Amino acid sequence: MSAVAIVLLELLAIATINISFCSGSSYVGCIKSEGEALSKFKQDLKDPSNRLASWTGDGDCCTWNGVVCNNYTGHVLELRLENPYLRPRLEGLSSLKYLDLSTVNLSNASDWLLVINRLPSLVVLKLRGCLDHNFRLLPIANTSLLATLDLSFNNFDNSILSWVFSLTHLVSFTASSNNFQGPTPEGFKNLTSLRHLLLDENKFNSSIPNWLYTFSHLESLDLGKNSLQGMISDSLVNMTSITYFDVSFNKLEWTIPRPLGRFCNLKSIFLAGVKLSQEISEVLDIFSTCNPEGLQQLVMSDCQLFGHIPSYLGEFSSLVKLDLSFNKLNGTLSETHFANLTNLLTFIVSGNSLILNVSPTWHPAFQLLRLGLGSCHLGPRYPSWLHSQKQLSHLDLSGTGITDTIPKTLWDSLSKFRVLNLSHNQFYGEFPGLTEVDNLISFDLSFNNLSGSISHFICNGTSEFMLLQILNLGDNFFSGEIPDCWMNWNFLTVLNLGNNKFSGNLPISMGTLTSLQSLHLRENNFSGTIPVSLKNCTSLLALDIGENEFVGNVPTWVGESFSKMLILNVHSNNFHGLLPPELCHLASLQILDVAYNNLSGTIPKCFSNFSAMVKMNYSSGNYIQCNTFFVHTDSGRNYLESASLVIKGREVQYSSILNLVRSIDLSNNNFSGEIPTEVTNLEALQTLNLSHNFFSGKIPESIGAMGSLESVDLSSNQFSGKIPKSISSLTLLSHLNLSDNNLIGKIPSSTQLQSFDTSSFTGNELCGPPLLKNCTEIVPTPGSETGNEDEVDWLFYVSITLGFIVGFWSVIGSLLVNKRWRYMYCHFLDLLGDKLWNVVRKCC
Ligand SMILES: *[C@@H]1O[C@H](CO)[C@@H](O)[C@H](O)[C@H]1NC(C)=O
Ligand SMILES: *[C@@H]1O[C@H](CO)[C@@H](O)[C@H](O)[C@H]1NC(C)=O
Ligand SMILES: *[C@@H]1O[C@H](CO)[C@@H](O)[C@H](O)[C@H]1NC(C)=O
Ligand SMILES: *[C@@H]1O[C@H](CO)[C@@H](O)[C@H](O)[C@H]1NC(C)=O
Ligand SMILES: *[C@@H]1O[C@H](CO)[C@@H](O)[C@H](O)[C@H]1NC(C)=O
Ligand SMILES: *[C@@H]1O[C@H](CO)[C@@H](O)[C@H](O)[C@H]1NC(C)=O
Ligand SMILES: *[C@@H]1O[C@H](CO)[C@@H](O)[C@H](O)[C@H]1NC(C)=O
Ligand SMILES: *[C@@H]1O[C@H](CO)[C@@H](O)[C@H](O)[C@H]1NC(C)=O
Ligand SMILES: *[C@@H]1O[C@H](CO)[C@@H](O)[C@H](O)[C@H]1NC(C)=O
Ligand SMILES: *[C@@H]1O[C@H](CO)[C@@H](O)[C@H](O)[C@H]1NC(C)=O
Ligand SMILES: *[C@@H]1O[C@H](CO)[C@@H](O)[C@H](O)[C@H]1NC(C)=O
Ligand SMILES: *[C@@H]1O[C@H](CO)[C@@H](O)[C@H](O)[C@H]1NC(C)=O
Repeated sequence: MSAVAIVLLELLAIATINISFCSGSSYVGCIKSEGEALSKFKQDLKDPSNRLASWTGDGDCCTWNGVVCNNYTGHVLELRLENPYLRPRLEGLSSLKYLDLSTVNLSNASDWLLVINRLPSLVVLKLRGCLDHNFRLLPIANTSLLATLDLSFNNFDNSILSWVFSLTHLVSFTASSNNFQGPTPEGFKNLTSLRHLLLDENKFNSSIPNWLYTFSHLESLDLGKNSLQGMISDSLVNMTSITYFDVSFNKLEWTIPRPLGRFCNLKSIFLAGVKLSQEISEVLDIFSTCNPEGLQQLVMSDCQLFGHIPSYLGEFSSLVKLDLSFNKLNGTLSETHFANLTNLLTFIVSGNSLILNVSPTWHPAFQLLRLGLGSCHLGPRYPSWLHSQKQLSHLDLSGTGITDTIPKTLWDSLSKFRVLNLSHNQFYGEFPGLTEVDNLISFDLSFNNLSGSISHFICNGTSEFMLLQILNLGDNFFSGEIPDCWMNWNFLTVLNLGNNKFSGNLPISMGTLTSLQSLHLRENNFSGTIPVSLKNCTSLLALDIGENEFVGNVPTWVGESFSKMLILNVHSNNFHGLLPPELCHLASLQILDVAYNNLSGTIPKCFSNFSAMVKMNYSSGNYIQCNTFFVHTDSGRNYLESASLVIKGREVQYSSILNLVRSIDLSNNNFSGEIPTEVTNLEALQTLNLSHNFFSGKIPESIGAMGSLESVDLSSNQFSGKIPKSISSLTLLSHLNLSDNNLIGKIPSSTQLQSFDTSSFTGNELCGPPLLKNCTEIVPTPGSETGNEDEVDWLFYVSITLGFIVGFWSVIGSLLVNKRWRYMYCHFLDLLGDKLWNVVRKCC
């Protein structure tokens, strides 16, 4: 019996196949259609030993060998096709050399390793994507001839490695995407025949161990997407057999050494995210020493490379993939650079300051699949040489200085693209009538001057297979109503229509967007109520409908349906009524902005259920990645979420540090009543704005517990009583406005309070610095003016100055001392006022 057949039948044995067809009713032996289906199935199997001989003709298929039917309905229930020779003795398989069980679910086959250990001749074993968890392990392998082992896409942890290390003849070990962690185990040292070691997407977190550098026969090494750290050692220069080297997406540093030029076999190098800090010409010089024609893939994105790309790039004539994105490269790229690059399929240099200077009639020697020129200077016209590229599926022309219409040829070929980014240019004009976008996954036209209706585009996307996940049309001049045509946009994850001139009601069919995580509609002229159907969009993390003309109540179902919500912004609309207590179900909420509406009633006590505002590290999911808030899409592409907030009186666009922001803004409504003390549980809250309402009562004594507060605005309300002393313990407070209330008494003294401008306190009956009023002079009769403000006592100036100095140094001083604050604060300053490009960067 041939090994292949055994493998096939073994495969069937392990994966017991349950088939249930749903037609027919009374028992008449085998159901005809099922018999036919089985006959068809048989045709696709190799069965040299004729074990399915009984599977013939129109006979009762329930009597066929291995077929199990339901005795009452006649439906085929199971196929039992296990190999009668396989178990429990081993005789038939002593010469089995090749076994591939990839994608077979072995979770129930708890003895799989035992079985494999009884295959003494096995040379190749592939178990890709077979197991969700670990199993009982054998210490010593019996399969001493095993040369190729592939365990990728399982969930093995380090415990299986002891078995692997006993496979002393192993030449190729692949275990991408498992759960290995900690330091890279020394046991690999024993595998002296190893030539291919592929361990990407695990959690190894040591430095690259020194013993690895002694593997001078190693041809492929893939340690990408781990958490390795430290410097790559110069000892690497002894690994001269290397053809494939991938250490991308770790926390590594390296200076590519000159002797690396001796690596004449190098074909593929992936160094994404490795901190090189070298001049690009030096690096290319090294790689061109020995065999520039050999290099096929060179990925050095986000490596802190600088300088200009030398024209001898053309010597790398076999290059298929070149990715130098997100470095500090500058200078000009000309046709000469590309003259010999006839094999190039991927060219990505986005995120540098390069100028592409080629003739409009240029006919490049390559046909690219992926082209990334984001933030290169290309404009002002759309580069017509791009028309020669007929196979492009990924194109990034963001921020390239183009002022032009989107050419018809590009519209016509839209369905060939998967990723198209034309954002941050000056493209103008309208969507054409006909557009097919069947393959598009991500389409970004934001920050342009496009106008007109999007109805044709949305409604003509109603073919069955719309794959689009990210649609960003924000910051243009699009107008008209949003059409009711969202039924087939099943995969849409991010929809940004913000900052346009759209009007009318939101269409009901938006409720079919069940994958939607981020919906931005701010700054348009939308009106009407929020359609109830939107409650079907249960994946929503961010909903920003601010600055429109929506009316009605804030629906109770917002709290019930959007359980993962992080950002809820309905700023500047015409909502009225109460804030529904159901909102409190939004435990992950970080930003709540309902300012500038006609809302009334009190603050629900249950606001303290906003867990993410109670604890900074509250985590409800995996969408927060290295201090940045990404929306993850199925295709693995990320969208950098952003939010506009009014903080300390100015609008700030947050994106990179969005996941650090916690804010509640209820200002400019008709809210009343006291602040529930429960609100002071929100210890992670940074911004609280309750200004311009009818709040009354005392400021809660325990406000000092909200230790993260940086900005508090309670102005223009009817708060009374004294300012609680505990407020002086808010050491991060840098903006405070208590003006125009009925507060009385002395302003508590603290390092900060006295450094605020007097306008923070005016319109009350307060006294003491920074106000000029002497507390002891005040006769606490509410309503009486104390006048005499012109009588300036110089002593007060002295104390104000002192207060200022003390306050100033308490902030700066704490920044000097506390590293974490300094980091956050500087990061924050970095972003203030910066309108961030939606550049998606691999970070950390
Ligand atoms: C069907 O009947 C056969 C023979 O009577 C019996 O052996 C078998 O267990 C029954 N199968 C089921 C699924 O009931
Ligand atoms: C494999 O089967 C187990 C047990 O039935 C199940 O829990 C697991 O989800 C399956 N894995 C895959 C990838 O289908
Ligand atoms: C594993 O066994 C369980 C219980 O017998 C069964 O429900 C499940 O379908 C099996 N899974 C596979 C992948 O065979
Ligand atoms: C190793 O394989 C031989 C047959 O080739 C078998 O007799 C022996 O039991 C196996 N040992 C283990 C530990 O599985
Ligand atoms: C490496 O990972 C292990 C296991 O996950 C962990 O215990 C250890 O603290 C990590 N070490 C470093 C330096 O991150
Ligand atoms: C490696 O080989 C040495 C010597 O043969 C042996 O003592 C050691 O146990 C082996 N290590 C592993 C992890 O298999
Ligand atoms: C390279 O290998 C040689 C001989 O094995 C050794 O002497 C030398 O130290 C190694 N070089 C580096 C940089 O590790
Ligand atoms: C290009 O980059 C280099 C190195 O960073 C710098 O010295 C030089 O001034 C830059 N040139 C231009 C035109 O920006
Ligand atoms: C292109 O290749 C030819 C032949 O290999 C070589 O002579 C020429 O210098 C290369 N051109 C560039 C710009 O590198
Ligand atoms: C949509 O496209 C079809 C052809 O694909 C065309 O006949 C129809 O007019 C288009 N509809 C709209 C609204 O553009
Ligand atoms: C919303 O979901 C409900 C129940 O799942 C369904 O009946 C309704 O048709 C959906 N509405 C929309 C607009 O998809
Ligand atoms: C404030 O009042 C106290 C008590 O009456 C008095 O001693 C002090 O001189 C006054 N200060 C000023 C600046 O008037």
